[in-house]
Amino acid sequence: MNHFLDIHTTDPEALRGMIDQAQTMKDARAGQPKATPDAEQPLKNHMVALIFEKPSTRTRVSFDVGVRQMGGQTMVLSGTDLQLGHGESIADTARVLSRYVDMIMIRTFEESVLQELAEYASVPVINGLTNRTHPCQIMADVMTYEEHNGPIKGKKVVWTGDGNNVCASFLHAAGQFEFDFTFVGPPSLDPEAEFIDLARSKGVNVTIERDADKAVQGADLVVADTWVSMHDSQSTRQRRHNLLKPYQVNDHLMAQAKDDALFMHCLPAHREEEVTSSVMDGPRSVIFDEAENRLHAQKAVMRWCLGK
Ligand code: CP
Ligand code: NVA
Repeated sequence: MNHFLDIHTTDPEALRGMIDQAQTMKDARAGQPKATPDAEQPLKNHMVALIFEKPSTRTRVSFDVGVRQMGGQTMVLSGTDLQLGHGESIADTARVLSRYVDMIMIRTFEESVLQELAEYASVPVINGLTNRTHPCQIMADVMTYEEHNGPIKGKKVVWTGDGNNVCASFLHAAGQFEFDFTFVGPPSLDPEAEFIDLARSKGVNVTIERDADKAVQGADLVVADTWVSMHDSQSTRQRRHNLLKPYQVNDHLMAQAKDDALFMHCLPAHREEEVTSSVMDGPRSVIFDEAENRLHAQKAVMRWCLGK
Protein backbone atom coordinates (compact mmCIF):
# COMPACT_ATOMS: atom_id res chain seq x y z
CA MET A 1 0.00 0.00 0.00
CA ASN A 2 1.28 3.45 -0.95
CA HIS A 3 0.07 6.95 -0.06
CA PHE A 4 0.35 9.56 -2.81
CA LEU A 5 0.94 12.68 -0.74
CA ASP A 6 3.55 14.60 -2.70
CA ILE A 7 5.76 14.31 -5.74
CA HIS A 8 9.06 14.75 -3.90
CA THR A 9 8.21 11.93 -1.48
CA THR A 10 7.39 9.50 -4.31
CA ASP A 11 10.16 7.50 -5.94
CA PRO A 12 11.12 8.92 -9.39
CA GLU A 13 10.94 5.47 -10.99
CA ALA A 14 7.45 4.99 -9.62
CA LEU A 15 6.45 8.42 -10.96
CA ARG A 16 7.82 7.54 -14.39
CA GLY A 17 5.95 4.24 -14.32
CA MET A 18 2.70 6.07 -13.53
CA ILE A 19 3.13 8.56 -16.39
CA ASP A 20 3.84 5.74 -18.85
CA GLN A 21 0.94 3.64 -17.61
CA ALA A 22 -1.39 6.64 -17.79
CA GLN A 23 -0.48 7.15 -21.46
CA THR A 24 -0.98 3.45 -22.22
CA MET A 25 -4.39 3.46 -20.54
CA LYS A 26 -5.38 6.66 -22.36
CA ASP A 27 -4.37 5.24 -25.75
CA ALA A 28 -6.29 2.03 -25.08
CA ARG A 29 -9.52 3.97 -24.45
CA ALA A 30 -9.29 6.29 -27.46
CA GLY A 31 -12.66 7.11 -28.97
CA GLN A 32 -14.73 5.04 -26.56
CA PRO A 33 -17.70 6.39 -24.61
CA LYS A 34 -16.55 7.61 -21.21
CA ALA A 35 -18.31 4.94 -19.18
CA THR A 36 -16.82 2.04 -21.15
CA PRO A 37 -15.07 -0.20 -18.61
CA ASP A 38 -11.31 -0.55 -19.08
CA ALA A 39 -10.22 -3.99 -20.31
CA GLU A 40 -8.47 -4.45 -16.98
CA GLN A 41 -10.58 -3.79 -13.90
CA PRO A 42 -7.97 -3.25 -11.18
CA LEU A 43 -10.43 -1.48 -8.87
CA LYS A 44 -13.15 -4.11 -9.14
CA ASN A 45 -14.99 -4.41 -5.80
CA HIS A 46 -13.08 -1.39 -4.45
CA MET A 47 -14.77 1.56 -2.76
CA VAL A 48 -13.05 4.96 -2.91
CA ALA A 49 -13.98 7.98 -0.75
CA LEU A 50 -13.49 11.37 -2.37
CA ILE A 51 -13.52 14.10 0.32
CA PHE A 52 -13.75 17.77 -0.64
CA GLU A 53 -13.29 20.58 1.85
CA LYS A 54 -12.92 23.04 -1.05
CA PRO A 55 -14.75 23.35 -4.40
CA SER A 56 -13.64 21.27 -7.38
CA THR A 57 -14.72 20.44 -10.92
CA ARG A 58 -11.79 18.56 -12.46
CA THR A 59 -10.56 16.67 -9.41
CA ARG A 60 -14.06 15.61 -8.40
CA VAL A 61 -15.19 14.42 -11.81
CA SER A 62 -11.90 12.92 -13.01
CA PHE A 63 -11.42 10.81 -9.85
CA ASP A 64 -15.04 9.68 -9.92
CA VAL A 65 -14.95 8.70 -13.59
CA GLY A 66 -11.49 7.13 -13.27
CA VAL A 67 -12.53 4.85 -10.42
CA ARG A 68 -15.63 3.74 -12.33
CA GLN A 69 -13.68 3.04 -15.55
CA MET A 70 -11.41 0.77 -13.51
CA GLY A 71 -14.37 -1.12 -12.05
CA GLY A 72 -14.60 0.51 -8.61
CA GLN A 73 -17.21 2.58 -6.83
CA THR A 74 -16.97 6.03 -5.26
CA MET A 75 -18.61 8.13 -2.63
CA VAL A 76 -18.13 11.86 -2.90
CA LEU A 77 -18.21 13.55 0.51
CA SER A 78 -18.13 17.20 1.41
CA GLY A 79 -15.99 18.06 4.42
CA THR A 80 -18.79 20.00 6.07
CA ASP A 81 -21.15 17.01 5.89
CA LEU A 82 -18.70 14.77 7.73
CA GLN A 83 -18.20 14.85 11.50
CA LEU A 84 -14.67 15.93 10.56
CA GLY A 85 -16.11 19.39 9.97
CA HIS A 86 -17.76 19.31 13.41
CA GLY A 87 -14.90 18.40 15.67
CA GLU A 88 -14.20 14.66 15.24
CA SER A 89 -10.45 14.21 15.10
CA ILE A 90 -8.71 13.52 11.82
CA ALA A 91 -7.07 10.44 13.31
CA ASP A 92 -10.42 8.94 14.32
CA THR A 93 -11.93 9.82 10.95
CA ALA A 94 -9.02 8.05 9.25
CA ARG A 95 -9.46 4.92 11.37
CA VAL A 96 -13.21 4.79 10.77
CA LEU A 97 -13.11 5.44 7.02
CA SER A 98 -10.45 2.74 6.65
CA ARG A 99 -13.03 0.19 7.85
CA TYR A 100 -15.44 1.15 5.04
CA VAL A 101 -13.39 2.14 2.01
CA ASP A 102 -10.28 0.90 0.21
CA MET A 103 -8.77 4.31 -0.63
CA ILE A 104 -9.28 7.96 0.35
CA MET A 105 -8.68 11.04 -1.80
CA ILE A 106 -8.89 14.33 0.06
CA ARG A 107 -8.85 18.00 -0.95
CA THR A 108 -8.30 20.10 2.14
CA PHE A 109 -6.81 23.30 3.51
CA GLU A 110 -3.96 22.52 5.89
CA GLU A 111 -1.29 20.07 4.82
CA SER A 112 -1.30 18.72 8.39
CA VAL A 113 -4.82 17.33 7.83
CA LEU A 114 -3.61 15.28 4.86
CA GLN A 115 -0.59 14.06 6.80
CA GLU A 116 -2.59 13.06 9.87
CA LEU A 117 -5.16 11.28 7.72
CA ALA A 118 -2.37 9.32 6.03
CA GLU A 119 -0.70 8.53 9.34
CA TYR A 120 -3.82 6.97 10.84
CA ALA A 121 -5.48 5.48 7.75
CA SER A 122 -4.81 1.84 6.99
CA VAL A 123 -5.75 2.42 3.33
CA PRO A 124 -3.96 4.61 0.75
CA VAL A 125 -4.51 8.37 0.96
CA ILE A 126 -4.18 10.65 -2.08
CA ASN A 127 -3.56 14.41 -1.98
CA GLY A 128 -6.21 16.12 -4.10
CA LEU A 129 -4.79 19.59 -3.26
CA THR A 130 -3.85 21.36 -0.05
CA ASN A 131 -2.92 24.98 0.57
CA ARG A 132 0.69 23.98 -0.13
CA THR A 133 0.71 21.39 -2.93
CA HIS A 134 -1.26 19.81 -5.78
CA PRO A 135 0.68 16.72 -6.93
CA CYS A 136 -2.05 15.08 -9.06
CA GLN A 137 -2.16 18.20 -11.21
CA ILE A 138 1.53 18.05 -11.95
CA MET A 139 1.38 14.36 -12.87
CA ALA A 140 -1.16 15.34 -15.53
CA ASP A 141 1.01 18.28 -16.59
CA VAL A 142 4.13 16.15 -17.06
CA MET A 143 2.08 13.61 -19.01
CA THR A 144 0.62 16.38 -21.19
CA TYR A 145 3.99 17.98 -21.91
CA GLU A 146 5.49 14.65 -22.96
CA GLU A 147 2.47 13.70 -25.02
CA HIS A 148 2.93 16.84 -27.13
CA ASN A 149 6.65 17.56 -27.11
CA GLY A 150 8.53 14.49 -25.82
CA PRO A 151 10.64 14.02 -22.68
CA ILE A 152 10.43 16.89 -20.18
CA LYS A 153 13.92 16.11 -18.86
CA GLY A 154 16.24 19.08 -19.43
CA LYS A 155 13.44 21.41 -20.59
CA LYS A 156 12.85 24.94 -19.32
CA VAL A 157 9.57 25.37 -17.44
CA VAL A 158 8.56 28.94 -16.56
CA TRP A 159 5.98 29.56 -13.84
CA THR A 160 4.39 33.01 -13.99
CA GLY A 161 2.63 34.87 -11.19
CA ASP A 162 1.92 33.55 -7.70
CA GLY A 163 4.33 31.02 -6.18
CA ASN A 164 1.38 28.98 -4.89
CA ASN A 165 0.50 25.32 -4.22
CA VAL A 166 0.58 24.26 -7.89
CA CYS A 167 3.92 26.04 -8.33
CA ALA A 168 5.28 24.14 -5.31
CA SER A 169 4.38 20.78 -6.83
CA PHE A 170 6.05 21.87 -10.08
CA LEU A 171 9.21 22.57 -8.08
CA HIS A 172 8.93 19.10 -6.53
CA ALA A 173 8.50 17.60 -9.99
CA ALA A 174 11.54 19.46 -11.34
CA GLY A 175 13.68 17.44 -8.93
CA GLN A 176 12.09 14.11 -9.81
CA PHE A 177 11.74 14.55 -13.58
CA GLU A 178 14.93 16.64 -13.96
CA PHE A 179 13.78 19.81 -15.70
CA ASP A 180 14.87 23.44 -15.22
CA PHE A 181 12.48 25.72 -13.39
CA THR A 182 12.10 29.50 -13.57
CA PHE A 183 9.73 31.40 -11.32
CA VAL A 184 8.76 34.89 -12.42
CA GLY A 185 6.59 37.05 -10.19
CA PRO A 186 6.75 39.71 -7.46
CA PRO A 187 9.09 39.02 -4.49
CA SER A 188 6.24 38.94 -1.96
CA LEU A 189 4.67 36.00 -3.83
CA ASP A 190 7.80 33.89 -4.30
CA PRO A 191 7.44 30.15 -3.69
CA GLU A 192 8.34 29.19 -0.12
CA ALA A 193 12.10 28.91 0.38
CA GLU A 194 11.66 25.28 1.47
CA PHE A 195 10.46 24.31 -2.02
CA ILE A 196 13.21 26.23 -3.79
CA ASP A 197 15.94 24.88 -1.49
CA LEU A 198 14.74 21.31 -1.86
CA ALA A 199 14.72 21.56 -5.66
CA ARG A 200 18.21 23.08 -5.66
CA SER A 201 19.47 20.37 -3.31
CA LYS A 202 18.33 17.83 -5.91
CA GLY A 203 20.36 19.60 -8.58
CA VAL A 204 17.52 21.54 -10.23
CA ASN A 205 18.52 24.71 -12.04
CA VAL A 206 16.07 27.08 -10.28
CA THR A 207 15.95 30.71 -11.44
CA ILE A 208 13.97 33.46 -9.71
CA GLU A 209 13.16 36.31 -12.09
CA ARG A 210 11.25 39.58 -11.81
CA ASP A 211 11.09 40.45 -15.51
CA ALA A 212 8.52 38.41 -17.41
CA ASP A 213 9.94 38.96 -20.92
CA LYS A 214 13.40 37.91 -19.78
CA ALA A 215 12.15 34.90 -17.84
CA VAL A 216 10.23 33.40 -20.73
CA GLN A 217 13.08 33.56 -23.24
CA GLY A 218 13.94 30.04 -24.34
CA ALA A 219 11.02 28.53 -22.42
CA ASP A 220 9.69 25.13 -23.46
CA LEU A 221 6.63 25.46 -21.24
CA VAL A 222 4.90 28.54 -19.81
CA VAL A 223 2.49 28.00 -16.92
CA ALA A 224 -0.03 30.30 -15.25
CA ASP A 225 -2.51 29.88 -12.42
CA THR A 226 -5.17 32.01 -10.76
CA TRP A 227 -3.93 35.09 -8.90
CA VAL A 228 -6.14 34.31 -5.90
CA SER A 229 -6.20 30.71 -4.70
CA MET A 230 -9.06 29.13 -2.79
CA HIS A 231 -7.22 29.45 0.52
CA ASP A 232 -6.26 33.10 -0.04
CA SER A 233 -8.29 35.73 1.78
CA GLN A 234 -10.50 37.74 -0.60
CA SER A 235 -9.21 40.84 1.22
CA THR A 236 -5.86 40.34 -0.56
CA ARG A 237 -7.52 40.26 -3.98
CA GLN A 238 -6.90 43.84 -5.09
CA ARG A 239 -3.32 43.86 -3.83
CA ARG A 240 -2.61 40.58 -5.61
CA HIS A 241 -4.11 41.84 -8.85
CA ASN A 242 -1.97 44.98 -8.73
CA LEU A 243 1.18 42.99 -7.99
CA LEU A 244 0.52 40.30 -10.59
CA LYS A 245 -0.67 42.37 -13.55
CA PRO A 246 2.83 42.60 -15.08
CA TYR A 247 2.95 38.79 -15.20
CA GLN A 248 -0.12 38.16 -17.34
CA VAL A 249 0.51 35.55 -20.04
CA ASN A 250 -0.47 37.15 -23.34
CA ASP A 251 0.58 36.87 -26.98
CA HIS A 252 3.50 39.25 -26.47
CA LEU A 253 4.88 37.10 -23.64
CA MET A 254 4.37 33.80 -25.48
CA ALA A 255 6.28 35.26 -28.44
CA GLN A 256 9.43 35.37 -26.23
CA ALA A 257 9.27 31.62 -25.62
CA LYS A 258 10.53 28.91 -28.00
CA ASP A 259 8.51 28.44 -31.19
CA ASP A 260 7.21 25.09 -30.00
CA ALA A 261 6.62 26.18 -26.39
CA LEU A 262 3.41 25.00 -24.78
CA PHE A 263 1.07 26.93 -22.48
CA MET A 264 -0.54 25.26 -19.46
CA HIS A 265 -3.00 26.29 -16.76
CA CYS A 266 -4.46 23.87 -14.22
CA LEU A 267 -7.85 25.64 -14.50
CA PRO A 268 -10.13 27.18 -13.43
CA ALA A 269 -8.76 30.25 -15.24
CA HIS A 270 -9.81 33.87 -15.03
CA ARG A 271 -9.75 34.96 -18.63
CA GLU A 272 -8.04 38.31 -19.28
CA GLU A 273 -6.51 38.27 -15.79
CA GLU A 274 -3.59 35.83 -15.43
CA VAL A 275 -3.93 34.80 -19.10
CA THR A 276 -5.64 36.21 -22.18
CA SER A 277 -8.21 34.26 -24.14
CA SER A 278 -5.96 34.60 -27.18
CA VAL A 279 -3.36 32.42 -25.41
CA MET A 280 -5.86 30.06 -23.77
CA ASP A 281 -7.57 29.37 -27.08
CA GLY A 282 -4.40 29.74 -29.18
CA PRO A 283 -2.20 27.13 -30.87
CA ARG A 284 0.29 26.76 -27.96
CA SER A 285 -2.37 26.05 -25.38
CA VAL A 286 -2.83 22.47 -24.17
CA ILE A 287 -5.12 23.33 -21.26
CA PHE A 288 -7.95 20.96 -22.14
CA ASP A 289 -5.58 18.05 -22.81
CA GLU A 290 -4.13 18.88 -19.41
CA ALA A 291 -7.61 18.71 -17.86
CA GLU A 292 -8.34 15.41 -19.63
CA ASN A 293 -5.05 13.94 -18.49
CA ARG A 294 -6.03 14.43 -14.85
CA LEU A 295 -8.27 11.42 -15.45
CA HIS A 296 -5.60 9.18 -16.96
CA ALA A 297 -2.77 10.23 -14.64
CA GLN A 298 -4.86 9.74 -11.51
CA LYS A 299 -5.96 6.30 -12.66
CA ALA A 300 -2.29 5.34 -12.73
CA VAL A 301 -1.75 6.98 -9.33
CA MET A 302 -4.63 4.97 -7.85
CA ARG A 303 -3.30 1.70 -9.29
CA TRP A 304 0.11 2.43 -7.81
CA CYS A 305 -1.43 3.24 -4.44
CA LEU A 306 -3.21 -0.12 -4.38
CA GLY A 307 -0.27 -2.03 -5.88
CA LYS A 308 -2.34 -2.91 -8.95
N1 CP B 1 -7.17 21.93 -11.53
C1 CP B 1 -8.02 21.52 -10.58
O1 CP B 1 -7.64 20.89 -9.59
O2 CP B 1 -9.32 21.85 -10.81
P1 CP B 1 -10.56 21.70 -9.80
O3 CP B 1 -10.35 22.72 -8.71
O4 CP B 1 -11.76 21.99 -10.63
O5 CP B 1 -10.54 20.31 -9.22
N1 NVA C 1 -3.95 27.51 -6.92
C1 NVA C 1 -5.34 27.15 -7.11
C2 NVA C 1 -5.43 25.86 -7.85
C3 NVA C 1 -6.83 25.39 -8.13
C4 NVA C 1 -6.89 24.06 -8.82
C5 NVA C 1 -6.05 27.07 -5.78
O1 NVA C 1 -5.50 26.49 -4.83
O2 NVA C 1 -7.14 27.61 -5.67
